[in-house]
Amino acid sequence: MIVSRDHIFKDGELKDKVILVTGANRGFGLAITMDLSKAGATVIMLGRDLGSLEYAYDAVVDAGYNEPILYPLDLEGATPENYQELQDNVLEKFDKLDGLIHNAAILGAQMPIEQYDIKLWYSTLQINLSAPFMLTQFLIPALVKSEDARILFLSSSVGREARAYWGAYSVSKFGIEGFAKTLSEELEKTNISVNTVDPGKLRTEMRRTAYPAEDSSTVPMPEEKSAAIVYLLSNLSPKMNGEQLTIVD
Ligand SMILES: NC(=O)c1ccc[n+]([C@@H]2O[C@H](COP(=O)([O-])OP(=O)(O)OC[C@H]3O[C@@H](n4cnc5c(N)ncnc54)[C@H](OP(=O)(O)O)[C@@H]3O)[C@@H](O)[C@H]2O)c1
Repeated sequence: MIVSRDHIFKDGELKDKVILVTGANRGFGLAITMDLSKAGATVIMLGRDLGSLEYAYDAVVDAGYNEPILYPLDLEGATPENYQELQDNVLEKFDKLDGLIHNAAILGAQMPIEQYDIKLWYSTLQINLSAPFMLTQFLIPALVKSEDARILFLSSSVGREARAYWGAYSVSKFGIEGFAKTLSEELEKTNISVNTVDPGKLRTEMRRTAYPAEDSSTVPMPEEKSAAIVYLLSNLSPKMNGEQLTIVD
């Protein structure tokens, strides 16, 4: 299903909503954080680098948006104890969670499977697939307390159609698609909806690394697409479950 990037959201559209975004310090995660905050949500900004998280926090506050919460956590090394602590903190401070956006990911390497570095394979699967599993598992108790909770997994075209040399990244996104579909069926009768979204092209560090020869001026800025995520988290969008969404380029 195609999602327009032209959503013009009202200030306060996400008022009283608490939404956790992973990889919120830069790239698409930061653009999403800015727009969700602008729309009135309180964003829990999860990232592994405290310095850039603080910088991003200042950008949100300086813009006059809702004050976010910083949550430093490295998704590669995070343990069940870390996720339990996160659950405790969310429940204690907000008593619910309305949105969970699994945005953080790494590209891994672009090379044949035959030569793929094994350590990098594990890291990519850990950050892009196993961490979202654990994060979701530990946050379901907070999500069920929302009247209308929405989980979004950032996917990719190479998570829906195989392409040579995309290795662990592609496999992790295929895994995310399968995980989201399974979860959507398990949670079908609850207040939690689960969907994947392929954001299409975004002018970020990941894109520059994947396509170094590309003319970046032809690639949309993340800020040109983040309103679509506000729409998907807002009560103004129809409740969907188990869908594969794509933001138009
Ligand atoms: N860019 C595109 O054209 C494109 C296309 C299709 C899909 N996507 C998907 O869109 C999402 C956002 O991509 P992007 O382009 O914004 O990527 P990006 O610019 O590379 O940013 C990735 C984010 O993930 C965080 N991250 C990486 N490893 C982490 C870890 N171990 N713990 C916590 N955070 C970690 C990074 O934090 P650090 O700053 O600490 O590294 C950064 O905030 C990804 O899921 C990507 O797969 C992107």
